Amino acid sequence: METLPKSLLFPLQTISGVGSVAQLIPECLVFGRRGMLVHGRSLVRSGMLSKLLAAAPDDQSICAWRHPGGEPTLDQLEDLLSAARGHGAEWIAAVGGGSVLDIAKAAAGLLEAPLPVQVYHDGEPIEASTIPFVAAPTTAGTGSEATSVSVLTNSVACTKRSIRHPSLLPRCVILDSELLQSCPPSVIASAGMDALTQAIEAFTSRHATWLSDVVALKAVEMINMALPTVYENSSDPTAADALLEGSYLAGIALSNARLGVVHGLAHPLGVRYHQPHGVVCSVCLLPALNFNRAAMGEKYDALEAALHADPVTRVTELLATLKITSPFFGEAVVDREGIIRETLASGSTAANPRIVTEADVEALLLQIFG
Ligand SMILES: [Fe+2]
Repeated sequence: METLPKSLLFPLQTISGVGSVAQLIPECLVFGRRGMLVHGRSLVRSGMLSKLLAAAPDDQSICAWRHPGGEPTLDQLEDLLSAARGHGAEWIAAVGGGSVLDIAKAAAGLLEAPLPVQVYHDGEPIEASTIPFVAAPTTAGTGSEATSVSVLTNSVACTKRSIRHPSLLPRCVILDSELLQSCPPSVIASAGMDALTQAIEAFTSRHATWLSDVVALKAVEMINMALPTVYENSSDPTAADALLEGSYLAGIALSNARLGVVHGLAHPLGVRYHQPHGVVCSVCLLPALNFNRAAMGEKYDALEAALHADPVTRVTELLATLKITSPFFGEAVVDREGIIRETLASGSTAANPRIVTEADVEALLLQIFG
């Protein structure tokens, strides 16, 4: 008889459905009258930001903070924290892609923290935060809306690491697939492949449980089915719902089971080559599937059933359909030693189903760079 895994992490409340973003501000009101609304450029362009702010009652004070773009950095986090502290924020909400969600989540987690953000990025444990975080993703994606993790880059030290604490989990997640309509096809493609990679890695992780397996496999099915359709037409309502919900489930799976060597490689490669995280994951996924195949055992067959095709064949097909090409193939490996060292030190690599050695990372890099 299976028992419950020893620890489970889920967001407190999840609201889904077309139009559900209208509930964002009313949900935040429960936490206080003063709050931050963190967003990206697309929310301004689509007119959604004005709509959300206009829906706030007169006695509610919401300060909108726009993420400048790119991967979230410690400098940007300092700016957001000083704006949030200056405003006396009682809650922090984010409507945006993975970067927007991650920086807002870190701000909620560190708003009351006594030390500079870099200290926590360098490994100092975070104390429980009392500042509620509310997340509405506009990409499907990183699954950040379902996790207690925020991935941040120290652009001075050139390091990309995560900070984590259960109190960083959203108090409320809003999954409104209409928000995907502002997402360009290239972002649908790379974010969707990140979600698929996360679902596969969580499923095959050495920390996987029966519960995370159920969630991860459902995510694989939903993302695989919906991603090519949404890439062609992001306003297809059934496929957009499935992609957004599949991505959310992949986030829950990774939050409870961790990941694998693809994500172990993705951070050191991403920070050195400045490529979108989803593209990096996509091109590392094929060599990793081949590398892990024997160690996956029956799980490889289960993946084949969920994908309705051999996993390597299906991922190859998806990369072609989504027009994702490798930014690394034929390039020189910059700072090979650093990449290997960081890949081997990564918690994701430690969760990989097959033990990863220095020679294994060398061999994977050889395949990725050609
Ligand atoms: Fe990822």
